[in-house]
Amino acid sequence: MYVLAYVMLSFILLLKSTSFLGVSARGNYEATFSGRELGDQITEILNNIRTNYDKRVRPNYGGEPVMVGVTMYVLSISSLSEVEMDFTVDFYFRQTWTDPRLKFQGPPNVNTLSVGSEFIKTMWVPDTFFVNEKKSYFHTATTSNEFLRIHDDGRVLRSIRLTVTASCPMNLQYFPMDRQLCTIEIESFGYTMSDIRYKWQKGHKSVGVSPDVSLPQFKVLGYRQSDVEISLTTGNYSRLACQIQFVRSMGYYLIQIYIPSGLIVVISWVSFWLNRNATPARVALGVTTVLTMTTLMSSTNAALPKISYVKSIDVYLGTCFVMVFASLLEYATVGYMAKRIQMRKNRFLALQKMAEQKKAAMDHHDEHHAKQTEVRFKVHDPKSYSKGVGTLENTVNGARGGDEENPAHPILPPGKDINKLYGITPSDIDKYSRVVFPVCFICFNLMYWIIYLHISDVVEDDLVLLEATT
Ligand SMILES: *[C@@H]1O[C@H](CO)[C@@H](O)[C@H](O)[C@H]1NC(C)=O
Repeated sequence: MYVLAYVMLSFILLLKSTSFLGVSARGNYEATFSGRELGDQITEILNNIRTNYDKRVRPNYGGEPVMVGVTMYVLSISSLSEVEMDFTVDFYFRQTWTDPRLKFQGPPNVNTLSVGSEFIKTMWVPDTFFVNEKKSYFHTATTSNEFLRIHDDGRVLRSIRLTVTASCPMNLQYFPMDRQLCTIEIESFGYTMSDIRYKWQKGHKSVGVSPDVSLPQFKVLGYRQSDVEISLTTGNYSRLACQIQFVRSMGYYLIQIYIPSGLIVVISWVSFWLNRNATPARVALGVTTVLTMTTLMSSTNAALPKISYVKSIDVYLGTCFVMVFASLLEYATVGYMAKRIQMRKNRFLALQKMAEQKKAAMDHHDEHHAKQTEVRFKVHDPKSYSKGVGTLENTVNGARGGDEENPAHPILPPGKDINKLYGITPSDIDKYSRVVFPVCFICFNLMYWIIYLHISDVVEDDLVLLEATT
């Protein structure tokens, strides 16, 4: 009974001492039983490290550069902003390097020491920074989210949880069918290549992305790693880059913009089937659709940066606008033609009436006199006069001489229909439009979707696809 109580007590004490020091030692049960001694040994090791250690001097000073191996594990990507041109990523950032001064001879079965943030302050760590960072922060709930693991051969692993907002210049030419490549660049702030060199610790598997990563508008396609040497005026630096490729899910834009604007174009065609005399209906339809398109275009671009090049959504919306505008113009043309034809008809009827009156009067006068009157009418008709038909008509009628005139068409040139203007009737325009407009729009849609879906479908080479790694 007493023995059991003693064992329990010593076990609790061990747990307390290790957690207080921030040290966890991996040992077997044998070590646990001699717990107090083991804890003291660890304390001694850590104290030894501290006393003979100068954190200002890099490991292996004057010799080979420190190789810092980097791995990353992306926990979440919280935003990708077109307006700010940046993205925010939350990840574990792990650096591994060897510091020979940290070699220790631990108790048996203890070959790694894990220490918390307090101890890290007393050690040399690489002055890594993110080159394209805009802002970033450490997570401190409940304690600072970092640890250091020291191996007995001097290898050190430092892991931090970071949230970094990094700039990501985007090309929105193919928006919203675009793919974006965002980079996180890792570099030492002060140590040149002769002091620190970075490398991806696990080759192509150094970056991990949590399967839970999800963005409302984007899918993470994959990532790509690279290491480069940067030449600055202060020296050459070793830089690592992790590029993440995003594909925009265009469902939102399809539902909110493409389909509505397509339907607005279709609605604008309704006026081709309406009666030509239904002026209020056709004008209202035309103006409403034009205004709706304008609103749709401006609301789409309000959420995007004020870029000066044409995006693919602009091509679509612009074409829809032109189509809607064209159908308004079509109505205007039809209306104008109908008015012109009506005016001509009215004038024609008036002339016809006068001619009939003259004919009635002619029965009492001589033929020559009546013919002269008729010629004068024709000259006064501005339509036929401007086209040079008036004089021709004159000679034709003159040649006819005493022939009986057709009383229904006393002035109209032969082969000309009173209901046509430039050889076309307003209802013909409506009829053609009913076919031409839909055909144009369907052709445009086919071309648009084929071209843009094809040219935007680029996968960066040597990209590690996410599906493959999970
Ligand atoms: C930096 O790199 C360039 C090109 O690789 C080289 O010419 C130059 O000497 C290097 N500078 C230093 C300080 O190492």
